[in-house]
Amino acid sequence: MLNFSFQNTTHIHFGEGQIQAIAKAIPLDAKVLVTYGGGSIKSNGVYDQVAKALKEHTWQEFSGIEPNPQYDTLMKAVQQIKENELDYVLAVGGGSVVDGSKFIVAAAQFEGEDPWDILAKGSKVKAALPLGCVLTLPATGSESNTGAVVTRDRNKLAFGSPLVRPLFAVLDPAVTLSLSERQVGNGVVDAFVHVMEQYLTYPVNGRVQDRFAEGLLQTLIEEGPKAFSDPDDLDVRANIMWAATQALNGLIGAGVPQDWGTHMIGHELTGLFGIDHARTLSIILPAMMKVRREQKEAKLLQYAERVWNITQGSVDERIDEAIQQTENFFSRMGLPVRLREVELGEENVAEIIEQLTNHGMIKLGEKRDVTPEISELVVRTAL
Ligand code: NZQ
Ligand code: ZN
Repeated sequence: MLNFSFQNTTHIHFGEGQIQAIAKAIPLDAKVLVTYGGGSIKSNGVYDQVAKALKEHTWQEFSGIEPNPQYDTLMKAVQQIKENELDYVLAVGGGSVVDGSKFIVAAAQFEGEDPWDILAKGSKVKAALPLGCVLTLPATGSESNTGAVVTRDRNKLAFGSPLVRPLFAVLDPAVTLSLSERQVGNGVVDAFVHVMEQYLTYPVNGRVQDRFAEGLLQTLIEEGPKAFSDPDDLDVRANIMWAATQALNGLIGAGVPQDWGTHMIGHELTGLFGIDHARTLSIILPAMMKVRREQKEAKLLQYAERVWNITQGSVDERIDEAIQQTENFFSRMGLPVRLREVELGEENVAEIIEQLTNHGMIKLGEKRDVTPEISELVVRTAL
C-alpha cells in the first residue's frame, strides 16, 4: 500500500427529512447566499424545504448555475456576495451547483488579479467562504470532496482545495425521486467510473481499498437498474446516493494509485461538444480498458473475477468478457458506449487530442505514461 494522509471533514446528514438539519448546521449570524440551478428545486419542493429550514436566517438566493457550471455565471454570484457582504454559501443542487459554489467561495476570497487563474494557472486557493450543500443528484461525490470543475468557453478545467470542501452535506434520497431516467443513469455511471479510476490501475496490496471499491461497484450494478424498475423505492435511492458519495470522498483512493485518464479525455468531449459528463465516461472507459489491457492486466483479471464472477477462459477471454459486461451495464443504464452514438466520428479526433494537449493533459494514467498518441488511440478505439 502507498503512504497516505486521509481526512474527510464533511458532516453528512443522511436520510429523508434531513434538510431541516441546515437550520442548526449554519450559524444563525451568517449572511447566506443560497445557490441553485435551473429551477428543479422549485418544482420538487426542495426550495420550500430549504426556505423553511432557513426561516431564522438572513439569506439571499442566486439561481441559474447551469450543468457544467460556467465561469461568467459564477462570477455574477461572486459579485452578489461582495456587494451584499455575504459570508456563507449554501449550494442546493447537483454536482454542477456544488462545484460552481466551490469556485464561488474561493473566488470571493481570491486576492490575485483574476480568479480564472485558480483554474487556468493552478493558483493556490488561500482562503474561501464556508460552504454547505443540499445534494439533489447522486453522482459526482462533490458534496464531500475537495474538487470542482468549471467551464469557460470550450475549456472545462478542474481545481481542488481542502478549503472548498463542504462543511456539511444533506443527503436526502427522497429528493432524488424527481430525477429523470437520464440523470439517474448518468449519476450511477459517473459514480461507477469514479471507483474504476481509483481501482483499475495496478496492485499495491491495498486490500481494504480493493474490497471497498468492489463493494461499491457491485452495489451500483445491483441497485442502478432497480432505480428504473422500482422508481419509487427509497432504499434503492438511498443505496445509490451513499455509494456515489463513497465513490469519491477520498476513502477508496487513499493509499492506491489513481488513473483519471478517462475523466480528462471526457472533459474535452464535454468542453467541445457539450456531451453530458457521465456519457463521455461510458464511451471512453471501455476504450481505455481495451487500449491499456496489458498495463492493467492484473487488476482487470481481479475485476473480472470479483465483480463479474468471470473465472473461466484464457486471460484475454476473461478481460474481453469483463469489458463487455461493463459496456452492457452502461447500456442497461441508458448510456452510450461509442462516439458514433453521440454523432461524433473520425473527423473529430484531431480536435479532441489538440484540446487535451492544450490543457497540458499529456501524461495521463496511473503511471503518467499515457501520451497524446495513446489518448488518440483510446479515442479512435471508442469510435
Ligand atoms: O439545474 P437544475 O434545474 O437543478 O436541473 C439539474 C440539471 O439540469 C437536474 N437536477 C438535479 N437534481 C435534480 C434535477 N432534476 C430533477 N430532480 C432533481 N433532484 O439535473 C441536471 C444535471 O445536473 P448536474 O448538477 O449538472 O449533474 P451532476 O451532478 O452529474 O454534475 C455534473 C458536473 O459535475 C462535474 C462534472 O464535470 C459536471 O460539470 N464533476 C464533478 C466532480 C467533483 N467535484 O468531484 C467529479 C466528477 O467527475 C465530475 O467531473
Ligand atoms: Zn466523474
